[in-house]
Amino acid sequence: MTEEAIAAQQRQAAKPAQPGIPDYMNEVYDWAYVDPRWVRRLDCNAVVTTLLFGNARRLMNAYLAKIHPGMKVWQVAHVYGDLVQQVAAKVGPSGHFDLTDVTPIQVAQAKKKLAGTAHARVIEHDAATWSGGADYDLVCSFFLLHEVPDDLKRAIVDRMLTRVAPGGKLLFVDYHRPALLHPVGWLLRVVNHYLEPFANTLWRMEISELASKAKEFSWRKRTVFGGVYQIVEAERIVP
Ligand SMILES: C[S@@+](CC[C@H](N)C(=O)[O-])C[C@H]1O[C@@H](n2cnc3c(N)ncnc32)[C@H](O)[C@@H]1O
Repeated sequence: MTEEAIAAQQRQAAKPAQPGIPDYMNEVYDWAYVDPRWVRRLDCNAVVTTLLFGNARRLMNAYLAKIHPGMKVWQVAHVYGDLVQQVAAKVGPSGHFDLTDVTPIQVAQAKKKLAGTAHARVIEHDAATWSGGADYDLVCSFFLLHEVPDDLKRAIVDRMLTRVAPGGKLLFVDYHRPALLHPVGWLLRVVNHYLEPFANTLWRMEISELASKAKEFSWRKRTVFGGVYQIVEAERIVP
């Protein structure tokens, strides 16, 4: 564990941990994703737009553009705001949308948003061990990897790669190392130090380097907002 993660753990030590969810959720992200008072305040588009410096729509559109009606899509974790409804709407009733999340209150939020959408399933599950679905046309991680410890990053990426259909695609939308003099670079360094102890890995490593069978896939990366964000696509190489 990094020094930052240990410090975050110590700050949280006085709080009772919620059982059944990973330690990092209780120790680092309790305020953001576990504590119901904060979850209710944070789950809206305005928060996501602010946190992503106005880039939320552009990043979400990069994901939505990959979805066509009738597709089978797995999104590995819930996202605040209306993204999950938009994904379900694009998939449409001829397709299928699976959304996993490891935190019960996040699952409850997502279930409320997708209530009455018969082609969408919300499942309480760790993305790293999800095996309840397979042969997805599209598997997407939208800003999950920077929030999990490095061993779990690897496990999640590997799991995503095993669940995709032949000819299907994977999409990773997440943080990246900003260009040298980017105006928000220093702010993000402070945020990573105090609030996001697992994020720096994505500044140092390619997402493809987290995959144990990376060579079986072709990888394409583009960055947006001066390198602050990356959109990485992977597709299985057909021999
Ligand atoms: C996708 S990430 C961050 C998304 C973005 N920052 C937002 O605006 O919501 C947050 C979600 O990941 C979930 N999560 C964390 N670890 C997970 C795991 N191992 N498997 C599935 N979901 C996980 C959390 O419960 C939370 O709902």
